[in-house]
Amino acid sequence: MLAGASDVSIQVCRNFPGFRERLRDATATAHRELDARMSAFDLTLSSGYRRFLQASAGALLPLEAALVDAGVAKMFSDWPERTRSAAIAADLDQLGGTAHATVSVRPLTASGIIGTMYVLEGSRLGAKFLLKAVAAAADPRIREATAYLSHGNGKRLWQSFLSKLACEESCDEGEAIEAARSAFAAFERAVDRS
Ligand code: HEM
Repeated sequence: MLAGASDVSIQVCRNFPGFRERLRDATATAHRELDARMSAFDLTLSSGYRRFLQASAGALLPLEAALVDAGVAKMFSDWPERTRSAAIAADLDQLGGTAHATVSVRPLTASGIIGTMYVLEGSRLGAKFLLKAVAAAADPRIREATAYLSHGNGKRLWQSFLSKLACEESCDEGEAIEAARSAFAAFERAVDRS
């Protein structure tokens, strides 16, 4: 059967090089703004670091829950290695805070999983920089509460995610980009509420 006009946005990712770059371009402004807002937390003070973690958890928890509900483990068999909800809850517990969802997110489609995973996996890159700030904290309780920021270090999770992005399955690029934007917006709202 010939593809109809309504099938135009259904793309097989491996045939569309530059998908990652398009995701990056489509979310560059949102990333810059979030980066600026998150850089305002003083991660060397327990109050600042706790607020940063609470703001991050506020979005991470509902986004990961939406991923699970949408069947992320079927698409990413290493999902148990990628999920960070338990790590951020453990850090907050050590710092006398609590991890809970502060924003609600929409259910995800299969392509939405890809866009959301792009944002969450990409946040590991920023985490490397933030970890350096945390390492400079005088308080050892802060320096030891880094399960979230150091999660997956050495496992090349970003690289393996990028390989997956050149994916074998059909992926609606527009839907994936929309989900990536929504994921950034969820973090923005969570920072607003922190
Ligand atoms: C203060 C906070 C943050 C800083 C300083 C920061 C910084 C960075 C840096 C330096 C990179 C590029 C690293 C590299 O190419 O090796 C990066 C990539 C990325 N970050 Fe952030 N980030 C922050 C927060 C976040 C958050 C909260 C998210 C999402 C929830 C996020 C999502 C991403 C994504 C998706 C990429 C990959 C972009 C690409 O495709 O190359 N970042 N970040």
